Amino acid sequence: MATKKLATKKKVVSKSKRAAASKVKPAKGKLGVMVVGLGAVATTMIAGVEAVRRGLAKPIGSLTQMGTIRLGKRTDSKSPLIKDFVPLADLNDVVFTGWDIFKDNVYEAAVHAAVLDKDTLTQLKPYLEKIKPMPAVFDQYYVKRLNGTYVKKGKNKRDLANQIIADIQAFKKTVDRVVMIWCASTEIYLEPTAVHQTIKSFEKGLENDDPGIAPSQIYAYAALTQGVPFANGAPMVTVDCPVMVELSKKHSAPICGKDFKTGQTFMKTVLAPGLKARMLGVKGWFSFNMLGNRDGEVLDDPESFRSKEVSKMGSLDYIFQPELYPDLYKDIYHKVRINYYPPRGDDKEAWDNIDIFGWLNYPMQIKVNFQCKDSILAAPVALDLVLFLDLAQRTPELRSRGIQEWLSFYLKSPQTADGLYPEHDLFIQSMKLKNTLRHIMGEDLITHLGLEYYD
Ligand SMILES: NC(=O)c1ccc[n+]([C@@H]2O[C@H](COP(=O)([O-])OP(=O)(O)OC[C@H]3O[C@@H](n4cnc5c(N)ncnc54)[C@H](O)[C@@H]3O)[C@@H](O)[C@H]2O)c1
Repeated sequence: MATKKLATKKKVVSKSKRAAASKVKPAKGKLGVMVVGLGAVATTMIAGVEAVRRGLAKPIGSLTQMGTIRLGKRTDSKSPLIKDFVPLADLNDVVFTGWDIFKDNVYEAAVHAAVLDKDTLTQLKPYLEKIKPMPAVFDQYYVKRLNGTYVKKGKNKRDLANQIIADIQAFKKTVDRVVMIWCASTEIYLEPTAVHQTIKSFEKGLENDDPGIAPSQIYAYAALTQGVPFANGAPMVTVDCPVMVELSKKHSAPICGKDFKTGQTFMKTVLAPGLKARMLGVKGWFSFNMLGNRDGEVLDDPESFRSKEVSKMGSLDYIFQPELYPDLYKDIYHKVRINYYPPRGDDKEAWDNIDIFGWLNYPMQIKVNFQCKDSILAAPVALDLVLFLDLAQRTPELRSRGIQEWLSFYLKSPQTADGLYPEHDLFIQSMKLKNTLRHIMGEDLITHLGLEYYD
């Protein structure tokens, strides 16, 4: 009798699993990826995807390609690859295009970025040189250190948005689905104003050339109104304002941002949760960076640096929760410095000095010296965001929710619903991401309680 009951229950469960899974539309046909800014990160992602497709390399650093997900109990031994569990676009079906303020094709831009070695780029040259940018929407007021030469002209911002919309519509004819990702330079720090509150005020602002509307928001507006999901890899508030959330929900075009979490902040969100879990106090955290790529040059301008600083500063406050733990974290001295140092190119060096204290207030120090390759870390993050946003759009439960907070895992300054503090702890973010995947596929969530193993 008990066995019969269990069997019936199992049947019901697997039926509901099938029902949930069947609601996620399959990833049929070509996925078009429109990349704003074909610089170091973008070209490293595009070249990397092609290298993987040709079997020249493994997609290291990409959770969508290499990660597994545990299903059911630990004793079930069921851990499929994520890409076999959820219907993600196959890398062979991904088609790239994009915009830049310079006319270089992706091969030339990748050579200029000097991230990948010459041999790799030469092998991929015939593919990469075919991807040529479309002229960009750009205004030097928003990125002081760059002077674009391949730029759209329009009578106002509305006209420029219409030109991006025309680019999207033309590309849409060649593929089945489209996602847009911002991999372009960091714009100056701007906070949302009245123009960013409603669709009506924003559209009026486009007509009136409102200075509060940055180029990144012209792209985002164009994408969202065309039902194209938008990911923001840079620290500006681009889609982190009421109008973009409204457009995202209205057009079922998921959004996420801000700022790829790659080097130093990635390390911070690994280390800080560990210190907090053990109730170790922190007096100071000094984060120093030097980098010599074009991103570094742009961030050398104080107004662009301000965008980055705000994005980099948030994580510690939210992880340590000084209001809950005043004895441990109330007076942390947190300083972030980014220094442009051309000899290093894309090989960024980050130093962290962390002054901690333990039992009876005894002081200790932690030093982290991360000698990383910025774009090597960012490329798989950008790829995963694109693939997951496309999945979100095919998932009825996610597509009209606007912000995809479950993608915080990849972001330095995660966008959340109004009134909700962002979750920065990498391990909570990872659990949230995987539980979201389990949930949309009708699998049980994993709580790690595990008492049942001891019944
Ligand atoms: N590399 C990382 O680890 C990392 C981490 C977090 C965030 N980011 C952010 O990602 C972005 C890209 O970084 P990167 O190292 O590739 O920089 P990059 O300077 O190499 O590339 C940016 C590209 O954007 C182009 N561009 C600038 N404004 C544009 C516009 N309005 N429209 C179209 N193209 C435009 C530039 O010409 C350049 O080719 C930056 O904002 C950076 O802060 C990078």
